[in-house]
Amino acid sequence: MTENKLVFVGIIISSKSLSELSVHNGYIAVDYGKITKLGTESEYEQLKKEGVFDSYKVVKMSSDLFLMPGFVDCHTHAAQFPNIGLGLDLPLLEWLNKYTFPLENQYGDIKYAASIYNKVVRSLLINGTTTASYFASIHLGGTLQLAQSVINNHQRAFVGKVSMNIENDAGYYNETKKDLEETENFIKAVLDYKNDLVQPIISPRFAVSCDSALMAGLSELSDKYECRIQSHISENVDEIKHVLNTFPCCKHYTDVYDQCRILNQRCIMAHAVHLSMEETATLANRGVSIAHCPASNTRLMSGLCPVRKYLESGVVVGLGTDVAGGDNATILDAMRRTMDVSAHLELMGQSGSALSWSEVFYLATLGGAKALKLDHKIGSFEVGKEFDALLINVYETNGPIVKFGPTYNTPQERALHLLQKFIYVGDDRNIAHVYVKGHKVKDVLEDISLLN
Ligand code: GUN
Ligand code: FE
Repeated sequence: MTENKLVFVGIIISSKSLSELSVHNGYIAVDYGKITKLGTESEYEQLKKEGVFDSYKVVKMSSDLFLMPGFVDCHTHAAQFPNIGLGLDLPLLEWLNKYTFPLENQYGDIKYAASIYNKVVRSLLINGTTTASYFASIHLGGTLQLAQSVINNHQRAFVGKVSMNIENDAGYYNETKKDLEETENFIKAVLDYKNDLVQPIISPRFAVSCDSALMAGLSELSDKYECRIQSHISENVDEIKHVLNTFPCCKHYTDVYDQCRILNQRCIMAHAVHLSMEETATLANRGVSIAHCPASNTRLMSGLCPVRKYLESGVVVGLGTDVAGGDNATILDAMRRTMDVSAHLELMGQSGSALSWSEVFYLATLGGAKALKLDHKIGSFEVGKEFDALLINVYETNGPIVKFGPTYNTPQERALHLLQKFIYVGDDRNIAHVYVKGHKVKDVLEDISLLN
């Protein structure tokens, strides 16, 4: 028996699309990180009889457990974790200048960077985030520490060295040539790690911190290395005014990035709270995804992002925690806040806006994988995909979920109740195992058989 060959038997839940959940009582076999077989419980019994699983470690889940895909956080700032919960009574641009830039400026200290980043990556994994897209800081050495932490802890991630060349009070910016050189060196260094879970992502902060020469240079690097690119767009009304004043030849915020050739299929933009229909259509046409960050949009009073409108316009949307603008680093929280913000839009008269628990489950898993262009590898359970998964123990004794009394008519009904309870009420205590590419990175339930 080897941990490289695993079979899980029990309730398995994943999304097929925004409107379709897959819930089945069956099995999933994983060989060296990849899903090799899926089927019903009786098919499992038959194969077991034939000895097919003799060399596998079998995880039999009791009826209070289920397996689901790992969470995808499409946007967070690893460097900002020490500020979580601070200064959220300021609007975006003041918050950045007063709290964020001075903190990020400390990551020139490699030891400091290493200690914070290791904690960040561990904390995300414990909370079920198997894939993250990170902004770090403007420092090459410090950001490589984040890539190392991701590798050491076996997370799947995009890691971005932040690019900025516009002066600010904190003195936190680079000269253009230096930034482009360091970004290229960062990309090469991460590619040289030859680790298939970690990839570099080009990260122009936003059009307030970057001029068009820097953004055009970064776009060339993105083409040269076929590298992903991430930034912020249209988050806050004052930010939009500032950008339009700085780039008077551009029709709107989206046009600024478009003219710098930032917008392509490898690009993901955070926030997008205040886009016009024309801007939305441009993002859809260019294949740009949106990372929806409800916690930070609310805390910094940026606005209510119309996610349903974007989805209906053909834009791919995933969820982001956006720490430290966001005050919670977990995707469970992002799911709940996505439901809340969308419900508030509906209550304010935007009919059809509200997103359901099963829709936010999609956004947190397969939607996020699509937004990061990783859905060929992760986001749901299909033969050939890599096994990034969470084993959820719904009624964990010390956890927050109270057992549901009545009996169920069907196993399907029971599974849907378990999933809903986890989405609305669960926390890290309910996340018993976390797997990234078949590798167990969290285990608070050594002996599953105890629960049988
Ligand atoms: N826009 C530019 N930088 C940032 C950041 O660090 N956080 C948020 N929320 N918005 C930004
Ligand atoms: Fe952000």
